[in-house]
Amino acid sequence: MRSVLYSLALPLAAAAIAVSPPVHPSPEGKGTGRWADAYASARRLVRQMTLEEKANLTRGFTRGDNVCAGNTGSVPRLGWPGMCLHDAGNGVRATDMVSSYPAGLHVGASWDKNLTYQRGVYMGKEFRAKGVNIALGPNAGPLGRTPLGGRNWEGFSVDPYLSGQLNAETITGYQDAGVIANLKHFIGNEQETYRRPYFGVEAASSNIDDRTLHEYYLWPFMDGVQAGAASIMCSYNRVNNTYSCENSRLINGVLKGELAFDGFVMLDWNAQHNLDSANAGLDMVMPLGGSWGQNLTQAVRNGSVSESRVTDMATRILAAWYLVGQDSPDFPPPGVGMKNLTQPHDPVDARVPASKPVLLAGAVAGHVLVKNALVEDTRRALPFAARPAMLSVFGYDASVPPTKNTDALFQLGYMSSQEMGQAVLGTARHFDQAARGGTIVVGGRAGANAPPYISDPLSAIQRRAAVDGTWVNWDLTSPDPDVNGASSACLVFINAMATEGWDRDGLHDDASDALVLRVAAKCANTVVVVHAAGIRLVDRWIEHPNVTAAVLAHLPGQDSGAALVRLLYGDDNFSGRLPYTLARNESDYSVYAPCGRGRDNTTSPQCDYTEGVYLDYRAFDARNVTPRYEFGFGLSYTTFDYSALSLAPEAGLCASAGNGTADLWATLARVEATVTNSGAVAGDEVAQLYLGIPDSPPKQLRGFEKVPLRPGESATVRFELTRRDLSVWDVTGQRWVVQAGTYPVYVGASSRDVRLTGTLVVVEGASA
Ligand SMILES: *[C@@H]1O[C@H](CO)[C@@H](O)[C@H](O)[C@H]1NC(C)=O
Ligand SMILES: *[C@@H]1O[C@H](CO)[C@@H](O)[C@H](O)[C@H]1NC(C)=O
Ligand SMILES: *[C@@H]1O[C@H](CO)[C@@H](O)[C@H](O)[C@H]1NC(C)=O
Ligand SMILES: *[C@@H]1O[C@H](CO)[C@@H](O)[C@H](O)[C@H]1NC(C)=O
Ligand SMILES: *[C@@H]1O[C@H](CO)[C@@H](O)[C@H](O)[C@H]1NC(C)=O
Ligand SMILES: *[C@@H]1O[C@H](CO)[C@@H](O)[C@H](O)[C@H]1NC(C)=O
Ligand SMILES: *[C@@H]1O[C@H](CO)[C@@H](O)[C@H](O)[C@H]1NC(C)=O
Ligand SMILES: *[C@@H]1O[C@H](CO)[C@@H](O)[C@H](O)[C@H]1NC(C)=O
Ligand SMILES: *[C@@H]1O[C@H](CO)[C@@H](O)[C@H](O)[C@H]1NC(C)=O
Ligand SMILES: *[C@@H]1O[C@H](CO)[C@@H](O)[C@H](O)[C@H]1NC(C)=O
Ligand SMILES: *[C@@H]1O[C@H](CO)[C@@H](O)[C@H](O)[C@H]1NC(C)=O
Repeated sequence: MRSVLYSLALPLAAAAIAVSPPVHPSPEGKGTGRWADAYASARRLVRQMTLEEKANLTRGFTRGDNVCAGNTGSVPRLGWPGMCLHDAGNGVRATDMVSSYPAGLHVGASWDKNLTYQRGVYMGKEFRAKGVNIALGPNAGPLGRTPLGGRNWEGFSVDPYLSGQLNAETITGYQDAGVIANLKHFIGNEQETYRRPYFGVEAASSNIDDRTLHEYYLWPFMDGVQAGAASIMCSYNRVNNTYSCENSRLINGVLKGELAFDGFVMLDWNAQHNLDSANAGLDMVMPLGGSWGQNLTQAVRNGSVSESRVTDMATRILAAWYLVGQDSPDFPPPGVGMKNLTQPHDPVDARVPASKPVLLAGAVAGHVLVKNALVEDTRRALPFAARPAMLSVFGYDASVPPTKNTDALFQLGYMSSQEMGQAVLGTARHFDQAARGGTIVVGGRAGANAPPYISDPLSAIQRRAAVDGTWVNWDLTSPDPDVNGASSACLVFINAMATEGWDRDGLHDDASDALVLRVAAKCANTVVVVHAAGIRLVDRWIEHPNVTAAVLAHLPGQDSGAALVRLLYGDDNFSGRLPYTLARNESDYSVYAPCGRGRDNTTSPQCDYTEGVYLDYRAFDARNVTPRYEFGFGLSYTTFDYSALSLAPEAGLCASAGNGTADLWATLARVEATVTNSGAVAGDEVAQLYLGIPDSPPKQLRGFEKVPLRPGESATVRFELTRRDLSVWDVTGQRWVVQAGTYPVYVGASSRDVRLTGTLVVVEGASA
């Protein structure tokens, strides 16, 4: 039985403004399952606290002795030290002596659960060594409703299933390392345009119908909660015209009610909220006291917030602290390694030697080879012949940027604070899509961090050339460089930058495309490498006969060049797959531009998610639009065969409704297939399972397994389909249901390269 009642929303007239019906009271954390011991300890400590002390846990305070993005209050009387909260996705931000990991999008392109978990563990250890209690990630939103989204690269994929799986691995990794994960941004935070209220204009309202919310945007948050995420960040935007951090239907109703989330909900920095947000389920405000300030205690005294609500906030926050073992005497003092870098300090080296192979393997794994043409009778452009005689390197993205700083975007000098002020309203033109100051290994702002070094492509190629005796030419500045006619291959490096704070202007830029075309006009073996903080179209040059190979290199982190060289020379083999659809043209995406752009005079931007779940490949499939490279696509140096599909049960599943959250994770069907490396070299295949659910998009990803295979080797890939995997959200019943019907099962190498097809049949049965 649900602990909260949902108000019945009457169908809205077409012109009516979307609303979010309130849901009260705020469910108290129950502390069941993995949370049981942590709740018992938290309750013991909270019982000893005064109201002021409990309230102290729920807000931030300034601390002069560290640069943490936030610090909670402490409880000196009971010896509770408080917590440091800090960014984020690529590693510990704004500090020294840390690693810069592959970015979220790059991890998404790896489709590698194990490597994602390892990355989470090692990154988590670095946060811990620095005394960061709460790492402000990973991202399950934005997913990437608009391909122009400035923060899409911080997340793993536009696909909720892929995002959910990799968020779960990351959360488990962080928390196994002793750091509280903060799954963000809850929810509908899909664009930077109008992302916050400014100058009398409200933040964009994401108006999302209930079924789309559940089947798309909430889906990866469900995986995160299931994996034990100890905190969740509510977002800057509005949903149905109520700010996310004030939205009781979302926090009380969906998150703490329906998903039975036992952790705490924290505010995105200075996000809009009010005192009543406490009743809406918000547990912590940041970076300071927000609108709660000293008033939360007053509100308890005059009855507008109950003391039990404040007790619940403190219990949830402390339970998270206990859950990951931060009560241990070896947890470092909060913020100990987060000194102001301009002041004299003894740096805390947070790096773990054992992370080095994980960093490099991660950098390798997110490169996606999309074209690899024959250049001789049987030899393809890549991998290079053992010792190429001469390589020519072109493009602004080939070498290291001139300055290193702690924020990748400021480092490259693209943005003035004045531009920032304009850009938040979505009206300013900011920087060209390409970052021309050097190679990019990460996107901009909160998701970025400073790498110890950058292995850039040109340096890495030269290091290899020194060993092989290869002659290297380079010109990284000319828009129309001369090409030595003896070049064995020409490499052109371009990029597409994106950052928190703005949405992108487009999905390709003319200057970079022109550079590729000019080199290709003079060089019969032109290899294009695109570092990209999001989708970057390739149609201006991909069919040029002299463009023999193309690599979507995404955002590899510190080991970028080293990883690329291993791939170009075949020391490692391409195993990345696109975590998005690469269209032929911008207009092919079902949603392209962020909403509100160009509507200069609106004070209440409305984003109606009328496309529902029809985004990316779900929309390309449904509308029969041919992409350039489909979701899940990527080439290898070898080939793979698929055989022996088996389904269990073969028939006789009964239609039914889920009876609660636990039930959703029960396995209802098993699918197996054999994958064989049919080529001459070793390689990794990413076997993918798509399901055709009745009354839904033609195909939806519901399983993937990455398998390393030697030539001739076979492996069985196994997929377990849970009740949730087969379900749709029943808006009327407010529950997940498995409908009766025929469910095609597709197993193959991409969303369009289906190798094996089967069918699951669900018959009418007794409904729960
Ligand atoms: C937003 O409004 C739609 C349309 O009425 C409704 O289906 C959905 O449940 C609402 N969502 C929230 C979070 O209030
Ligand atoms: C609240 O936290 C601040 C900052 O850590 C601390 O100085 C203060 O003593 C705390 N107040 C109480 C009542 O414990
Ligand atoms: C995961 O990766 C680690 C490190 O590469 C490896 O030792 C381990 O065997 C892998 N585990 C699985 C289940 O593949
Ligand atoms: C708290 O309430 C008082 C009035 O009761 C108000 O002046 C103050 O600005 C409020 N906000 C904070 C953050 O304390
Ligand atoms: C109770 O106190 C809070 C915080 O000062 C204030 O905002 C609110 O208006 C008060 N409510 C009543 C009913 O007095
Ligand atoms: C670090 O110290 C410098 C110099 O005192 C100061 O200007 C800057 O604001 C400090 N940075 C932070 C994040 O506190
Ligand atoms: C391909 O490159 C060669 C130079 O090796 C050049 O002669 C030829 O015109 C190029 N082809 C095209 C279509 O530009
Ligand atoms: C490509 O997309 C852009 C942006 O949506 C649009 O203006 C243009 O007409 C499209 N071109 C083609 C050939 O469809
Ligand atoms: C926006 O408002 C300004 C001033 O009120 C007006 O001059 C301008 O025409 C309006 N623009 C649009 C697109 O409505
Ligand atoms: C509900 O689901 C749980 C977990 O799968 C199961 O043990 C229980 O029997 C189910 N109850 C009903 C009434 O179907
Ligand atoms: C990668 O492929 C190359 C040939 O293209 C082969 O020689 C090599 O063994 C493979 N390496 C790995 C690590 O699979």
